[in-house]
Amino acid sequence: MIDRWRGGLVALLVLLIGHIVTALEVPLDRTYHKHHHNTLTVLPQPPTITHTSPKDFIIDPRENIVIHCEAKGKPLPSFSWTRNGTHFSVDQDPKVIMKPHSGTLVIDISGGEKAEAYEGVYQCAAHNQLGTALSHRITIRQSRSPLWSKERFSPVLVQKGQSLVLPCRPPAGLPPPIVFWMDNNFQRLPQSPRVSQGLNGDLFFSNVQMEDSRSNYICYARFPHTQTIQQKQPISVHVLDLDSLNDTMADYFNDTDWFSGRWPTPVVAWTKRSSEIPSARASLLNFNKTLRITEISEADAGEYHCRASNPHGSVQHTFRVTVRAAPYWISAPKNLILAPLETGAISCLAGGNPKPSIQWSINGLPVQGVFV
Ligand SMILES: *[C@@H]1O[C@H](CO)[C@@H](O)[C@H](O)[C@H]1NC(C)=O
Ligand SMILES: *[C@@H]1O[C@H](CO)[C@@H](O)[C@H](O)[C@H]1NC(C)=O
Ligand SMILES: *[C@@H]1O[C@H](CO)[C@@H](O)[C@H](O)[C@H]1NC(C)=O
Ligand SMILES: *[C@@H]1O[C@H](CO)[C@@H](O)[C@H](O)[C@H]1NC(C)=O
Repeated sequence: MIDRWRGGLVALLVLLIGHIVTALEVPLDRTYHKHHHNTLTVLPQPPTITHTSPKDFIIDPRENIVIHCEAKGKPLPSFSWTRNGTHFSVDQDPKVIMKPHSGTLVIDISGGEKAEAYEGVYQCAAHNQLGTALSHRITIRQSRSPLWSKERFSPVLVQKGQSLVLPCRPPAGLPPPIVFWMDNNFQRLPQSPRVSQGLNGDLFFSNVQMEDSRSNYICYARFPHTQTIQQKQPISVHVLDLDSLNDTMADYFNDTDWFSGRWPTPVVAWTKRSSEIPSARASLLNFNKTLRITEISEADAGEYHCRASNPHGSVQHTFRVTVRAAPYWISAPKNLILAPLETGAISCLAGGNPKPSIQWSINGLPVQGVFV
C-alpha cells in the first residue's frame, strides 16, 4: 500500500516536471498513470464534496435525523462537523453516529430525544493531506404544525349583492400549511370569479348571492410534512335579500349601516408601467386575481397595476416590484496544481443583487491578512 502511494507521488512529480498537465482540473476518480516501471498507480487528489443535505433542511421530529455529507478524494477524506460555528464533537454524543467512509450523520431520536435539541446550522469538512473541502451550511429546523387557536364566530349576516371576506388565518407552521375551504358535506367549495380563495387563505365573495347561505364554512390547513389536517371553527353565513322582506324588516335592516351598495363581480386586469407584461412568461391565476411571472430577470422590476372594474366604476392598486438575486458565479474558482516556485492565481468573481461579499478560507480556516 505504502509503495503504491509512493509510486503515486513519483507519478505526480513526473507529470509536473514534464509539464504534461495542462488542464487545471485533474479527473478525480480512478485516475491511473503508467509510470516508468509500468505499474498502475493512483494520483493523490484533494477532497471534493459530492453530496449534502439541502441548505434549508426541515426535518420530521418523529424520525431519525440524517444529515448527508459525502466527499471523494485520494486518499479517502476524513470528516468533521461544526454546529453553530463551533466544532461538533460527534463521538461525545451517544445519539449521533457518523457513517463509515462518509461524513453522513445519523441522529437517533427514537429514545425520546427531542429533535429540537439538534436544530442549528451545520457544516461538514472533508480532509486529507492535500487539503480540506467545506460543504455549504445546512440549517436544520424541525417541522411544526401548531394548533389552531380556538375561536368562536357569530353568524355573518350579509345583504345580497355585497362583498364579504371570511378569514382563515391558519397557524404559522414550518413549512407553511396548504389551505382550502370546504362545506359541511366535506366538498371543496367551488371557486369562481365571484367566490375565490386569496393567497393568505381568506375566502373572498365579490357579491354574495342567496345560495351562499350556509351554516358551515370551514377552513382547513394541511401540514405537508406531518401529514396532518387541522380544521378551523365553522363560520355560518346568512344572506338577506331586502327586496323580498316585508316592509318592517326591510326598514329595520335598511336603517342599519352594514347594508349599503351592491357590488357586481368586477373584472380584473393587470398592466405594467412603461412596458408590456411579457406574455410568454406571464400567466393569470385565480380568476385574474394573481399574476405570475416566471424566469424573471432584472427587467421585470417596476410598477405593476391591478385594476378591478364593474359597471359602477373601478379601483386600482399599484405594486412596486424589485428583483433580487442570490449570489451566482461569474467566474467560479478552479483547482490549481502548481510546481514549487510557480505563481498561481485563483479567480473568484460572483454576481448578485445586492452585490455579494466574498470571503476566502484555506483548508476551512478564514484567510488572515490581505493578499488579494
Ligand atoms: C444553534 O443556534 C440556534 C439559533 O441561535 C439555536 O436555536 C440552537 O439551539 C443552537 N443549537 C445548538 C445545538 O446549540
Ligand atoms: C332603503 O332606504 C333608502 C333610502 O333611505 C330607500 O331609497 C330604499 O328604497 C330602501 N330600501 C328598501 C329595500 O326598503
Ligand atoms: C315581517 O317578517 C318578520 C319575520 O319574518 C315577522 O316576524 C313579522 O311579523 C312580519 N311583519 C309583518 C308586518 O308582516
Ligand atoms: C381576465 O383577463 C383577461 C385578459 O385580460 C380578460 O379577457 C378576462 O375577462 C379577465 N377575467 C376576469 C374574470 O377578470
